[in-house]
Amino acid sequence: MKILVTGGAGYIGSHTTLALLEAGLDVVVLDNLCNSSPVSLSRVEELAARALTFVEGDINDRALLDRVFADHSIDAVMHFAGLKAVGESVAEPLLYYRNNVAGTLTLCEAMAVANVFKLVFSSSATVYGEPGEMPLHEQLPTGSATNPYGQSKVMVERCLSDLGAADPRWSIALLRYFNPIGAHSSGLIGENPNGLPNNLLPYISQVAAGKLAELAVYGNDYQTVDGTGVRDYIHVVDLADGHLKALHAIEAATGVAVWNLGTGVGYSVLQIIEAFEKASGCKIPYRLAARRPGDTAECWADSGKANRELGWQATRGLADMMTDTWRWTRQNPTGYP
Ligand code: NAD
Ligand code: WQD
Repeated sequence: MKILVTGGAGYIGSHTTLALLEAGLDVVVLDNLCNSSPVSLSRVEELAARALTFVEGDINDRALLDRVFADHSIDAVMHFAGLKAVGESVAEPLLYYRNNVAGTLTLCEAMAVANVFKLVFSSSATVYGEPGEMPLHEQLPTGSATNPYGQSKVMVERCLSDLGAADPRWSIALLRYFNPIGAHSSGLIGENPNGLPNNLLPYISQVAAGKLAELAVYGNDYQTVDGTGVRDYIHVVDLADGHLKALHAIEAATGVAVWNLGTGVGYSVLQIIEAFEKASGCKIPYRLAARRPGDTAECWADSGKANRELGWQATRGLADMMTDTWRWTRQNPTGYP
């Protein structure tokens, strides 16, 4: 079986590509490298002791997509390619809608012409907005995402749901990730943010590595265990495993299925700092700061559906996530060379 992985050089895509190769599947990665390095793919090949095919290019390039499908006998697509910086999406909404929404439509059009109808899509818990109940389950309404990045995920989910309803040849998995963190246990692949990190764990790692002076904790007046924001952090290798299970599930199915991929457990920012300090032995200096606009107090998953229907469950705990994040940072203090 041969899988086209868009965005496969990125953080989640590289870990999933490794899992696919390890499972004996063949992989073609399509990535424009706008937020990644090809070194991630050499390292994936080294870890898997197998080769993959890399095509440098954009999902908005229809001619290129047609060539990729013509040159390779693709059975299914895992679609990670997209932009993901929330703040940037507020400043440049058209860039986000072009890349994430229009890019996905172009990909689906090329797939249909090539007779490829199996698709696993990287969605996000952000589609739930702030629904006022926890844990978040797949039946909750979506659409209240507070920024263009989140709205781009809502829109793509809608497009793919309509597509699945219109044409029974499609079999589509919408995977709603919670907060992916951690790295492969080898320390060879991990998250490699460009510039100042937006997300908590990359920021903490850079403070630990001495590249940033201190962490700002955004808000300590939420109605949570200690006033700081609570999230469902999930190990990226567990997430990769969820993709394999979803791929297996859609092989024999038709239509559109939605699965949350989270652990079902929430941790506060202060709990994360404490766990990271324990795993790394580094003190993380922090200061309490104002709430970050658009943040919600808490967010965690009901992952029962993925458990029941895919036989998937996250197995790595908070200590593993912290240890693996720190190993990756220590071994690659400036990211990929
Ligand atoms: P990432 O930026 O590390 O990976 C995305 C990859 O896509 C990068 O390698 C980038 O170069 C590539 N890319 C972007 N636009 C492209 C285009 N037009 N054509 C070809 N390649 C393109 O991000 P990630 O964290 O690995 O996220 C992967 C997917 O998962 C994204 O769709 C993201 O929105 C989604 N997601 C991420 C998170 C998270 O917190 N990391 C949470 C929920 C959902
Ligand atoms: C986690 C917690 C912050 C940084 C984002 C996107 C979401 C999804 C995952 C893709 C919050 C706090 C953070 C810092 C802090 N991405 N924090 N200081 O906001 O839950 O989700 O990434 O789909 O769409 O919105 O993740 O890691 O940014 O924040 O105190 O410097 O850490 O306030 O409580 P978030 P995050």
